[in-house]
Amino acid sequence: MESKFPKEFLWGGATAANQIEGAWNIDGKGLSTADVHKFKDITDKSQLNKVHENCDVTDEQIQEALNTDDTEYYPKRHGIDYYHKYKDDIAMFAEMGFKIYRFSIAWSRIYPNGDDKQPNEKGLQFYEDVIHECIKHNIEPLITLSHYEPPLTFCTKYNGWYSRESIEFFSTYVKTLIDRFKGKVKYWVTFNEIDSIIRHPFMTGGLIESRFKPEDFEEVMYQAMHHQFVASAKAIEIIHQEDPKAKVGCMITKLTYYPFSCKPCDVLETQKRMRKVYCFSDTQVFGEYPKYLLKAYENKGFHIKMTDEDLAIMKKNPVDFVSFSYYQTSCVAANPNGLETTAGNTTIGIKNPHLKTSEWGWQIDPTGLRIALVDLYDRYRKPLFIAENGLGAIDTVEADGSIQDDYRIEYMKQHLKAVGQAIHEDGVEVMGYTVWGPIDLLSNSLSQISKRYGMIYVDLDNHGHGTYTRKKKKSFDWYKKVIETNGASLFDEEER
Ligand code: BG6
Repeated sequence: MESKFPKEFLWGGATAANQIEGAWNIDGKGLSTADVHKFKDITDKSQLNKVHENCDVTDEQIQEALNTDDTEYYPKRHGIDYYHKYKDDIAMFAEMGFKIYRFSIAWSRIYPNGDDKQPNEKGLQFYEDVIHECIKHNIEPLITLSHYEPPLTFCTKYNGWYSRESIEFFSTYVKTLIDRFKGKVKYWVTFNEIDSIIRHPFMTGGLIESRFKPEDFEEVMYQAMHHQFVASAKAIEIIHQEDPKAKVGCMITKLTYYPFSCKPCDVLETQKRMRKVYCFSDTQVFGEYPKYLLKAYENKGFHIKMTDEDLAIMKKNPVDFVSFSYYQTSCVAANPNGLETTAGNTTIGIKNPHLKTSEWGWQIDPTGLRIALVDLYDRYRKPLFIAENGLGAIDTVEADGSIQDDYRIEYMKQHLKAVGQAIHEDGVEVMGYTVWGPIDLLSNSLSQISKRYGMIYVDLDNHGHGTYTRKKKKSFDWYKKVIETNGASLFDEEER
């Protein structure tokens, strides 16, 4: 079977520093929001819909975290010890044939408090070594500048992204990185799931909700969001000035919603919900706020402070490509009362009776990925990059030591086929696909390792016990073959 993917398609995987590195307090790293996030032991799956409720971390909780060196209840402090094992891990990615590896840089490894005058050399050296390791294996690095881990001091001292100073602190950080890595890194993403600040204000925006009046908090989040938009545009400017060949993208959570019924009121409600998803990428792709978002601010009585200079910077620096995460779809109804809900990526949605769900309640919908690709391409006509997609599942090590993760293979196969169809039949321009968590890592929402995404198994349990050794799962060789054949094996009848 002929490949439906372009020759230069970038196959690979994606991780985030705070979910893999560990080494939370060595080599000059400062604490980040991830280091004070307490483990939620969700063993009762009926509680999954509550995972995203009340995700504030108060000053008291931060203090409690600061008073302890514990890593069991703060598992992002140990991660999968990638900090010490990255060479072996990248070698395994290379064995799978990765063309690209998306990883993030922990801001707090470079500027431990966010506002420091000098960068931390050991942090820069670490990422330089990681980049060299990728290049050595012919893997293109794609760097996310911020993936859920603003430095803690930046949050406690300045109120995180709510403060205008955040723009300057972030620009200094970006300038430091590009000075050091220009010419070596072609692809950059500014903020992972920039929209997530609205759903996870502490983790993404460093906003300590309890410090604000409840009635003001929504406006606070949008003000912080504005600062991120400006900082993102400035980052694009800095990167392009220093390295004109570099490409910089935005990254959104591509939540895809279907009307629960064909009642016009459900369709209208869905359209409204989709605008809440698109407003972030609309702003970053077109370089200006969409009118519907400004109208929403006006209707809510928000006064988001934005200068003419901010708006000019945003206009001058739109993104080069649009990247996104895609995990599931859900439904929307004008009247949701009595309808069953289910968990999703940082959201709760109405359950779609036509879809199966993962063990974690996320609805599995490969066709939804094709729909998402077509929608985004029709809207933006910019190259798209699938920065995250994958299945979180409980894996079992068999008596013979093997891990038979056929469910993951099936999930990826169906999603990748949908990508191939979007490219080949729908004419969508897709640059690449980085499967989320090619190696088991800590779940973002739960901080648990038992929600495993990898093609590489890590011997570790939810309490930090284990040898941390790596082992190939069945999906390892399967993905290797997909990459080797540039996706042709996905459509090979014999393979099914
Ligand atoms: C994305 C995040 O939203 O979803 C990742 O960018 C995260 O950091 C991934 O890990 C999967 O979510 P979870 O909660 O299963 O880890």
